[in-house]
Amino acid sequence: MDLSNINLRYSQLAKTECCLSCGGALNFSKIQPGEICVDLGSGRGTDVLRMAELTGDEGFVYGFDISDGMLKTARENALKFGVTNVKFIRSELENIELPDQTADLVVSNCTINHAEDKAVVWNEIFRILKRGGRFVVSDIYATSTVPEEYRRDPVAVSECWAGSVTKEEYMETLSIAGFESVTILEDSLPYSKGKIEVSSFTITGERPGRKPCSCGKR
Ligand SMILES: C[S@@+](CC[C@H](N)C(=O)[O-])C[C@H]1O[C@@H](n2cnc3c(N)ncnc32)[C@H](O)[C@@H]1O
Repeated sequence: MDLSNINLRYSQLAKTECCLSCGGALNFSKIQPGEICVDLGSGRGTDVLRMAELTGDEGFVYGFDISDGMLKTARENALKFGVTNVKFIRSELENIELPDQTADLVVSNCTINHAEDKAVVWNEIFRILKRGGRFVVSDIYATSTVPEEYRRDPVAVSECWAGSVTKEEYMETLSIAGFESVTILEDSLPYSKGKIEVSSFTITGERPGRKPCSCGKR
């Protein structure tokens, strides 16, 4: 995907109220007070602000996005609502500006389909998650391979399905990245887009390993 086009398109949408999500990732994320959370493709910052409230003053939430307009709106919203335990960072999904094993939870809604190389993104999610950390992601998948003619079609790109892959490819990428306990939490009926059909789903999974004990004992 051309990042300058994505920046432009989403910056135009930053001040609108149109829904940009494709599932209820946040509803399944079971955020605990004190957790460090990340939202990839944080848009106007709505989910980041909700997570900030749930994780509380002991926790922190990072929102990453590539669109200057979205980042500006998200920062304005944080200021407007007086939310201080958040930070919005301009960063590509493929190169997340966080140290290894930072996050308890990575959330993303309708964004990973935009990434040219999904394997790199999932490797990054694995890298920034703590051992035992989890992801909850809503995204679009295609029921058959998306024909090349749609890959750069502005309408298909703007509808978030031009870059989608099949469910099988999606699951294989997660498995190769090393995630365990991968579960589909919700899955829509297929709907037509161009000559193909696509669906939206919400999935969760864990980086293997035991969570560090929060009580201070070993
Ligand atoms: C469909 S919107 C979803 C926004 C938000 N998650 C929501 O549910 O309202 C996709 C968001 O991902 C961002 N985005 C797209 N491609 C990206 C990339 N390669 N790196 C970082 N952000 C990206 C866009 O700027 C946009 O804000």
